[in-house]
Amino acid sequence: MEQKFLPMSQLPPLEGLPDALNGASTPEQWRARREEIKEILCHYMLGHLPEKEFPVSGEVLSAREVYGGKGVREEIRLDIGRGESFEFYLVRPAREGRFPAIVWTYFVGRSDCPIGEELVDRGYVLAAFENNALCKDDKDNPVSPAKRVYPEADWGAILIWAWGFSKIADYLCAQDYVDANKLICTGHSRNGKAALIAGAMDERFQVVAPNNSGCGGAGCLRYLGDTWHITQNSVEVETVGAVMDRFPHWFVPEFADFGNLTPPYPIAHEDRLPLDAHFFRAMIAPRGVISIEGTEDLWANCYGSYLMRLAAQPVFELYGVPGRNFQIIRNGPHGHTHRGWHWMLDFAEEVFSGRI
Ligand code: GCU
Repeated sequence: MEQKFLPMSQLPPLEGLPDALNGASTPEQWRARREEIKEILCHYMLGHLPEKEFPVSGEVLSAREVYGGKGVREEIRLDIGRGESFEFYLVRPAREGRFPAIVWTYFVGRSDCPIGEELVDRGYVLAAFENNALCKDDKDNPVSPAKRVYPEADWGAILIWAWGFSKIADYLCAQDYVDANKLICTGHSRNGKAALIAGAMDERFQVVAPNNSGCGGAGCLRYLGDTWHITQNSVEVETVGAVMDRFPHWFVPEFADFGNLTPPYPIAHEDRLPLDAHFFRAMIAPRGVISIEGTEDLWANCYGSYLMRLAAQPVFELYGVPGRNFQIIRNGPHGHTHRGWHWMLDFAEEVFSGRI
């Protein structure tokens, strides 16, 4: 029987990037190719989502007014099956209405959204979870309630976090204050990787906003750049080897075969990867993706992310929505800035209104 997924050693090195469309010239053909792409990403990089899932249910543990009564903040426990749960918080406008909702995952101790009050004023719901609450970010012990519910799943922490976005979306879509056609997912750095992958996998997210997500997110895996050029300099730019040596729990073990696991983690067999990060962006079409990179955030491969945007563009063009594959390359270092949040909202409003 022909093996569906060859091991790294039997894969041919590719010239350039794998083609996202691979001959697909209609949206129908692209849908079939998209399924193939998803399987490739799951096999070599992410691991798989559970095949059958328990429905989730949320319980509001406490609620209080915030921002002088303009908003309501709730702490919510989300039961995910087999007696397991994780908690998140939600802030929504206190006034009547159905609002677009942003799902965001944050680092331990960094739960405050820098534009929390403005979100309420502009009419958004924010639902936010701490990444560690769903899967501990610890290579020696990445414990997770999701792994306890689905012990057979081979997913890495990034896919588990991405799944967390979807479980919160399940909850949000059932609330009468949420406009379920206007869901956004976002996160910074490793959480940006999770947000991008959540948006690639779950088509309920109309706008996907990874911030400075780099290697394993919006950054190219085979071409490393500074701000404007390819350099292949692994001292400055993170590679597959650098990720998999330091964060082996993020992806499946086979992903490590493509990198060099010894510092300074030079490029090794990345050219054999039958995937690259433009596949994530392409999977989002015809929905909207805005990635944000920093000119001084070399580690996250600014130029490589730009190449990924270009390589995904034909899929957005196939759908007639070229403006929905968006990118901001801002001045400055690694960080999720106020401006980053604003750009995301401005872009979302363009997508929601159908102007792009
Ligand atoms: C490290 C890691 C990156 C990651 C970043 C972060 O720098 O190498 O891949 O994005 O941490 O999450 O802050």
